[in-house]
Amino acid sequence: MCKPRLGKRGGRILHYVCPAIATTAVFAFLFLDRIESWVTSAGMNTDARGAAIPLQSVPPTRPEEFLLMPSPLVCQRAKPHIITMVTSAPANQRARQTIRDTWGGEVEVRGLRVMTLFVVGVPSDPSLGKLLVVEARERGDLIQGRFLDTYSNLTLKTLSTLAWVRRFCPQAHFMAKVDDDVLFNLSNLLHFLNKSRNPYEHGDLYLGRVHIRVAPNRDPVSKHYLSAGVYSPAVFPDYCSGTAYVLSRSALLKISLAATASPLSAPLPPEDAFVGMCARAAGVLPSHCPLFSGGPGVPYGRCCYQAMVSVHRVDPRDMLRYWADMRESPPCSWISERASLGLCKVRAMLGIALGLEQGL
Ligand SMILES: *[C@@H]1O[C@H](CO)[C@@H](O)[C@H](O)[C@H]1NC(C)=O
Ligand SMILES: *[C@@H]1O[C@H](CO)[C@@H](O)[C@H](O)[C@H]1NC(C)=O
Ligand SMILES: *[C@@H]1O[C@H](CO)[C@@H](O)[C@H](O)[C@H]1NC(C)=O
Repeated sequence: MCKPRLGKRGGRILHYVCPAIATTAVFAFLFLDRIESWVTSAGMNTDARGAAIPLQSVPPTRPEEFLLMPSPLVCQRAKPHIITMVTSAPANQRARQTIRDTWGGEVEVRGLRVMTLFVVGVPSDPSLGKLLVVEARERGDLIQGRFLDTYSNLTLKTLSTLAWVRRFCPQAHFMAKVDDDVLFNLSNLLHFLNKSRNPYEHGDLYLGRVHIRVAPNRDPVSKHYLSAGVYSPAVFPDYCSGTAYVLSRSALLKISLAATASPLSAPLPPEDAFVGMCARAAGVLPSHCPLFSGGPGVPYGRCCYQAMVSVHRVDPRDMLRYWADMRESPPCSWISERASLGLCKVRAMLGIALGLEQGL
């Protein structure tokens, strides 16, 4: 393409144009995450109207809402800066153990205390219920809400999570809600929070991979189906992908208040869209962080994974493998981290473009 086929003058122009295009492409590649951030933020609805709901009107969380939970003093003792709540299905015992053996086992990151707990519902199989009781007694990190653990009840799991943290963990400045197939890097999250312009400990923060202008599913046979009667607007408010998102204490209180103020429809909206709707009602805007995966899966690249805050769709065996690989290897150089991140992003985008993965 860059061969001088346009005569002498054309050739001379190309002589400058081609390197300029190449340099721009290299820069764009190295800073794809920043570009993604700008593009997403530009598309977001930044109109922060929302009802000011007095916080003291949040109904108190009752301990009876939980069938299993750690000691009510667990946060008072551990004083975590960030509490990570992993939503897990009762049968996913192996995924929980893998998280405990890897990132969830950390108690201090960058000099700050952290804690990881797991949230499940009631399994339809009673023998699984008995195993959960044993697991809770042995590990002391299980919270069980009083609802049937099904896919369509995920929204209830989130409400339960918010209610537990609100009541039993006022010490935590941030709560991260993470799925049990996510490789989560608290060190990178803390670094991001520290350098972002968001006031570090005060103010509302609702951070993750922001999905913009997502239309509700109107296909009656889909498991995500939401009829116009239940939710009439054509699109959901912008929301953070449910695979992993972070709320500051104040955002958590406001969102949980808005959630209790709004009647629950049947069927419930998807968990992450519901949190977005409550955030909107409470006047809390989502912030996008390109270091959260949450769209398509990200193929393994050590330097890229080391830089990300969350990578999802990682099965337990891979999580152990990646974790070991990252621990044993020296940190990546700036340039290899940039290049690896760029490559991950391009491969993820190709995945969407080729329709291999759903954009959600
Ligand atoms: C959600 O949980 C409630 C309370 O346990 C239960 O009555 C309901 O059937 C569950 N919904 C679904 C769709 O599983
Ligand atoms: C946040 O940044 C400050 C100043 O750069 C640094 O001293 C502090 O250790 C950082 N804290 C964390 C948790 O990274
Ligand atoms: C988490 O992030 C830190 C800081 O970037 C990095 O050194 C570490 O390897 C990462 N760990 C994992 C398991 O991703």
